[in-house]
Amino acid sequence: MEPVRLAFVGCGGIAGAHVNGLRALWERELRPFEVVAACDVVEDQARQLAARVAEFQGRQPEVYTDLAAMLDHAAEVEAVDICTLHSEHHTTAVPSLEAGKHVLIEKPLGITMRAGRLILAAAVRSRRHLAVAENYRRSPQERARHWAIRQGRIGSPRTFYWHDVGEGLGKWGWRNFRLDAGAGWVLDGGVHFADLFRYQLGTQAQQVYALTRQYEPYRYDQVRERRGAWRVDVEDAALALITFDNDVVVQWTWQGSAPGARFSRRVLYGSEGCLDWETGWWGRHEEHTDNDQLVAEFMGGLAADEKERLFPAGVTDAIAVELHDFAAAVRTGAVPEVDGLDGYRAQAICLALFESACAGRPVSLAEIERLETEAYQQDINQALGLGPGGHSCQ
Ligand SMILES: NC(=O)c1ccc[n+]([C@@H]2O[C@H](COP(=O)([O-])OP(=O)(O)OC[C@H]3O[C@@H](n4cnc5c(N)ncnc54)[C@H](O)[C@@H]3O)[C@@H](O)[C@H]2O)c1
Repeated sequence: MEPVRLAFVGCGGIAGAHVNGLRALWERELRPFEVVAACDVVEDQARQLAARVAEFQGRQPEVYTDLAAMLDHAAEVEAVDICTLHSEHHTTAVPSLEAGKHVLIEKPLGITMRAGRLILAAAVRSRRHLAVAENYRRSPQERARHWAIRQGRIGSPRTFYWHDVGEGLGKWGWRNFRLDAGAGWVLDGGVHFADLFRYQLGTQAQQVYALTRQYEPYRYDQVRERRGAWRVDVEDAALALITFDNDVVVQWTWQGSAPGARFSRRVLYGSEGCLDWETGWWGRHEEHTDNDQLVAEFMGGLAADEKERLFPAGVTDAIAVELHDFAAAVRTGAVPEVDGLDGYRAQAICLALFESACAGRPVSLAEIERLETEAYQQDINQALGLGPGGHSCQ
């Protein structure tokens, strides 16, 4: 496969993990990309990323601080890897697609449903590939669970409990502010979980009923002493019921404002048994397969071509695999595993929590995806020039 000539847009934290993924592929003699440019509004970030790429690639990517300049001048760029903060997803993805570049974009697809739609529409107009960087589902453990469910190991899925409760009051940059991030952890990390619900169940979400809360209005430089505070506007608790096709119910709880005892529990129950994310598969009569055994059984049964698709050259780094999948889509015309529509549907689940909490009623995914209910998102859309003002629940 001829390497896809790639440019990074946004060269911060996760872009560094993408470079590690490229290096992991490189070390197994896989060359799906040649990185030809690195763009960040902070020049030093772009320079550092370019230098790290040059360490293994040899060729030094060109450095840009302005996307428009890069799209004008770096004609050889075929695809961009967008790793900017959420408010800069549509502002970078739409011009890149319009310039004829294929796009891999970090999650969530857009900061709001309107932003996501703009990106989807640009991909359709430009007839370029649009993939969302969804890495969680690609780990050997998640692949093994997906396989076990399809083997009938838990029977028909019934209820899915996904709980993470604890306290985290440290500052987290742009992630503490709705106009930059869209929401707090429920959208940021939560969109990975929404993707996992969809992936593991293999069906569509139908309805969401949720309550969200902000119990803690400040985040701190020094949490113990409560020093160096800034006021934040994102949620710190969300409790949701999500219905999926076939009568499946997901109960999703996240709280970052629960001091003292923490707990985390993730279990999918079916008619014949369950998958516990911590301890593995359990049958009705205490039959048990732990996670390592489950992965070994799954790997052992994989056909060679499927193994190569899921773990190219044996690479299990989930980000490396997501990058490889994107390159294969660009080169072969195959649909990437997580395309723009998958990304749109996953972000809709997360934003449905806020819309439900805002409206005080269950909301359907259809009304969220069609932009019929968007009061929670209204002030963000308005501030970013994405849509009309009007009622907002903030
Ligand atoms: N898949 C994962 O597991 C995972 C993990 C962390 C972050 N992310 C996602 O990655 C994205 C970035 O997060 P991060 O933690 O790397 O943030 P970050 O703040 O570390 O990096 C963002 C970078 O984008 C740059 N930037 C901002 N606007 C830009 C523009 N218009 N053009 C070019 N560069 C611009 C910033 O200067 C910064 O260097 C987010 O969408 C986040 O949700 C995904």
